[in-house]
Amino acid sequence: MKIGLLTGGGDSCGINAAIRAIVIKAADDGHQVIGIRNGWAGTIEGWFSEITPEAVSGILPRGGTMLGTSRTNPFRMEGAVEKLQRNYEEAGMDAIVAVGGDDTLGVAHRINALEEAIPAVGVPQTIDNDVSGTDFAIGFHSAVEIATEAVDRLMTTAESHSRIMVLEVMGRDAGHVALAAGVAGGADLILVPEHSFTVEEVVDTVKQRRDAGRTFSLIVAAEGAKPKGVEQATVSEKTDAFGHVRLGGVADFLANEVEGRTGFETRSMNLGHLQRGGASTPFDRILATQFGYAAVEMVERGEYDRMVAIQGNQITSVPLEEAIGKTRPVDEALYRMANDLYRLGRMRPAA
Ligand code: F6P
Repeated sequence: MKIGLLTGGGDSCGINAAIRAIVIKAADDGHQVIGIRNGWAGTIEGWFSEITPEAVSGILPRGGTMLGTSRTNPFRMEGAVEKLQRNYEEAGMDAIVAVGGDDTLGVAHRINALEEAIPAVGVPQTIDNDVSGTDFAIGFHSAVEIATEAVDRLMTTAESHSRIMVLEVMGRDAGHVALAAGVAGGADLILVPEHSFTVEEVVDTVKQRRDAGRTFSLIVAAEGAKPKGVEQATVSEKTDAFGHVRLGGVADFLANEVEGRTGFETRSMNLGHLQRGGASTPFDRILATQFGYAAVEMVERGEYDRMVAIQGNQITSVPLEEAIGKTRPVDEALYRMANDLYRLGRMRPAA
């Protein structure tokens, strides 16, 4: 078989491990892998070239994607789907494996449904970890490790200088990175898109901590966290091909508000793309390898229009239709526990 392989959407650590597994497994089973450059853009432009097992040697731990990526939606571009179909046929491909988040997987689902169906299998990859049907997407674990390290590092400066620190992490529609890193690093307040907040709540938290003798506080906010009654912070008016605006600024906004209302020195930091780069964690490497291997098996069995997934430590698959278009929110029990724990902690006097 000729298997087309593309990576789309925001990059993350671990994608290369998936590419490597797909290429090696496919070659071993007698298939050819055609690398498609820059996500769905490559299908429209015909940016195809074979990836041999030699080409993936050494890429396992590396961040980014050797195939390049883009946020391209052929279904929103005049004539693009026809070009995609023509290029796919001319290249003699039998199926496409698409690695990415909700947008990339959404396109994979739609090409399965075309009149001249293009069989496609999805592999979830996004640091936001918000794809439904899977407990984890590639890249999340590595991002949490980076964000946790940032919390640890900022915590010591917050404490030394008796400051309030606000750390902004990625998470457009769901706050998985913020919640995980916040719990792992012992943040005093965690703000996620799933639960809007008021500036008063934030101010009360840092004041209560001061009253209890704790002169510093660390707040982790997901970029998509929504202060009630305030327009969401964006760094640009521009939208991508899927209609998403560029988020960023909630930490800056909060730092200004908190300092203005309390007089406590408050600083902000946006971790930004640091969360998406660098070597992947062992967890992500193993997950990506399992996902890549399973995706090739799914193509071999003709299990199309599905996404490889992990549920309760078992590698499985779910229909793409069930995975896309709905954000997987943070675990409510973990969120409640985190809030409760920090509420109790800030009421206790400092030792
Ligand atoms: O991949 C998802 C994501 O990490 C979002 O959390 C964030 O809003 C977005 O990517 C930023 O993407 P870009 O690098 O394209 O601006």
